[in-house]
Amino acid sequence: MTEKTFSVAVAGATGAVGDQMIRCLEERQFPVKSLKALASKRSAGKRVRYKGETVLVEELTEDSFKGIDLALFSAGGSTSTRFAPHAAKDGCIVIDNSSAWRMDPEVPLVVPEVNPHAVSDYTRKGIIANPNCSTIQMVVALNPIHRRFGIKRIVVSTYQAVSGTGKKAIHELFDQTRDMINFLDIKKDVYPHRIAFNCLPHIDAFLKNGYTKEEMKMVHETRKILEDTDIGVTATTIRVPVFFGHSESINVETDKPITPEEVKAVLGKAPGVKVVDDPSTNRYPMPIDAAGQDWTLVGRIRKDESIPNGINLWVVADNIRKGAATNAVQIAEILAEKYL
Ligand code: A2P
Repeated sequence: MTEKTFSVAVAGATGAVGDQMIRCLEERQFPVKSLKALASKRSAGKRVRYKGETVLVEELTEDSFKGIDLALFSAGGSTSTRFAPHAAKDGCIVIDNSSAWRMDPEVPLVVPEVNPHAVSDYTRKGIIANPNCSTIQMVVALNPIHRRFGIKRIVVSTYQAVSGTGKKAIHELFDQTRDMINFLDIKKDVYPHRIAFNCLPHIDAFLKNGYTKEEMKMVHETRKILEDTDIGVTATTIRVPVFFGHSESINVETDKPITPEEVKAVLGKAPGVKVVDDPSTNRYPMPIDAAGQDWTLVGRIRKDESIPNGINLWVVADNIRKGAATNAVQIAEILAEKYL
């Protein structure tokens, strides 16, 4: 790691991802000179922990970024839309976890295991976008397969944890579960239906084409990160009553012939990937194993017997870590090492 140190701000420091961003900066020993914790006015005066100390939370304003080198944003799309340009104007590089800037042609969308070279485009707007959590783990698993076999089409269905919606949703699943088993009336606030003991085929808003925004994020972001607009992608995204860890059932059709053995060999050497695939001992990726670590776990690797060149995979990762905070801090590491 570089000898230089950086003044870092975390916008959304009281949220599920912001909190983990601070943990990741600490765990990965990012060279932080000073840490500024930003959130809404509601949280001003609260404290967050960093390296055994407490850091005062300040209200995020247009002037928050003077003298800051790097800002990690995870405070929602409208906050990023409004404040990221102010940060960039003050010479602060923004790594933004919202969907606000991801498809802007002047903003790189980066997964360090896949397209680290794209970071260099940060100079265009001073903003780098962190992809959607479901997209990140999918491209970490699929990029090595694409490079070797040429992916023609991806059919993905997700099983997404409530933490992806934020802290309120974590509490909602907890409270509803507790109230259900105590035969009490349950309250709904975050989701339109009960999430405890249920699945919702609805993540983010519905669009005119019948898909949700989350589903279309997976389509567009995958093509941008893999730098291949010819790949067909179709997604169905489902919220499930899991706290941490998104799972994905992925079907891939390739140009070249492909076998499960070859996929295991390719993924066995792939950065960020751990193959967990031994049905004879009931070993396969599960959210309870993915939570709290940074690997993208891949298993249930098998031939799609319905087409000549196809494979099925089950891919699981911690959506708050690799799907958000860790990926953002990895991008900051590339910036610090190579560009700043
Ligand atoms: P706050 O806690 O003050 O509401 P989560 O995804 O877990 O819900 O967290 C969202 C994060 O984004 C929180 O830190 C939240 O702060 C922050 N946030 C939400 N709206 C704003 C805003 N308008 N300005 C600054 N921070 C915001």
